[in-house]
Amino acid sequence: MFNDLKILVVDDDNFVKAILTEILESEGCIVKTAEHGIDGLEKYAENPDIDLIISDMNMPEMDGLSLIKELRARQADVPIIILTVNTEIDVALNAIRHGANDYLLKDENIQDTILISVERVIEKYQLKKQNLMLMADLEQKNSELEKSNQELIELNIQKNKFLGIAAHDLRGPLSGIIGMSELLMDPEFGTMNEEQIQYLNMIYTVSNGMINLLDDLLDVSIIESGRLETVFEKNNLKNLLDERIKLFRFAAEKKNIKIFSDFAQVPEIMFDNKRIAQVIDNLMTNAIKFSPQNSNIYVSLLQENDMIKVSVRDQGPGISEQDQSRLFGEFQKLSARPTGGETSTGLGLAIVKKIIDSHHGISEVHSTIGQGAEFSFKIPMNIKNI
Ligand SMILES: Nc1ncnc2c1ncn2[C@@H]1O[C@H](COP(=O)(O)OP(=O)(O)O)[C@@H](O)[C@H]1O
Ligand SMILES: [Mg+2]
Repeated sequence: MFNDLKILVVDDDNFVKAILTEILESEGCIVKTAEHGIDGLEKYAENPDIDLIISDMNMPEMDGLSLIKELRARQADVPIIILTVNTEIDVALNAIRHGANDYLLKDENIQDTILISVERVIEKYQLKKQNLMLMADLEQKNSELEKSNQELIELNIQKNKFLGIAAHDLRGPLSGIIGMSELLMDPEFGTMNEEQIQYLNMIYTVSNGMINLLDDLLDVSIIESGRLETVFEKNNLKNLLDERIKLFRFAAEKKNIKIFSDFAQVPEIMFDNKRIAQVIDNLMTNAIKFSPQNSNIYVSLLQENDMIKVSVRDQGPGISEQDQSRLFGEFQKLSARPTGGETSTGLGLAIVKKIIDSHHGISEVHSTIGQGAEFSFKIPMNIKNI
């Protein structure tokens, strides 16, 4: 039953030692014996692989309680069963209080009770050990996770810094290229043939696309590193919408897209004019970029409870539910692709969300695939506590 379980029996009574040894050996245990507490301590020191100690309480030299105390003081992690007589129950309980694991009555049933007790104590001990190992493992995994998390945070900070520096430093020379291509386009600079004009136009268009990308990257870097500075002022959202939409008439007309607006009278509220303009521009650009020719875009402004809501609805391809969950993440170019050769970086909506978040607002999308998309944002009317 207990193959090779090493047990130390400590008792000054040779008869008890002999009986216990016989029972336990017949169950496959390897039994060692000791005369009293001091002898027991020595035997345990010589055989630290002992799995269990069964000890009497009253013994010469050193009694059972002192043996338990001494073993526990030495951090000996071995289960102990004590032997006791019926009249000593309080002694037995005291022993358990000091670190014994079970007690066993020295009576005529000991032949059976000893095996039950050994099995119970060993099982409990092994479970405890397993538990401790699992806990230790968990603790280690936790601290590893914490460490790698910290490393990721550090790396992300570095990434943002790098992104910011790279975007900023590339922007300068690129502005130079755009400026010079504009200069070259000026007829005062002399005439060019068709092909030269065509190439110059390409340089100009591509460079402009790159500047837009760099600006987006710079924004991501600035916003992510918490350096987004917002200037909150009482502003008129309707005026801002009118002003921004005008800028998109030309791009919309190129695709024969009509823009309809429906603006309710709403009070002036606190927001960062430049940043909210950026949000409107992003939503308008997307609506035009992903819509087919000859479609409509509806822009609305209204008050909803204590928030002001702006919506841009298009008749484009719409967005699947799966894509909707990724929409506001960085570098997400999803299934809808530009319909007129426009550029796409997948950063616009990530920036939109971050700006709206900084206004304690809500960014939303409603769409059914094949039936257009409605992007909206809401900003609270009362954001004094920003
Ligand atoms: N109005 C829209 N209709 C359909 N899909 C859209 C719309 N707006 C955005 N998307 C999808 O979401 C992706 C991410 O948009 P965005 O972050 O603005 O990046 P970008 O415009 O540079 O592609 C787009 O590439 C497109 O697939
Ligand atoms: Mg976009």
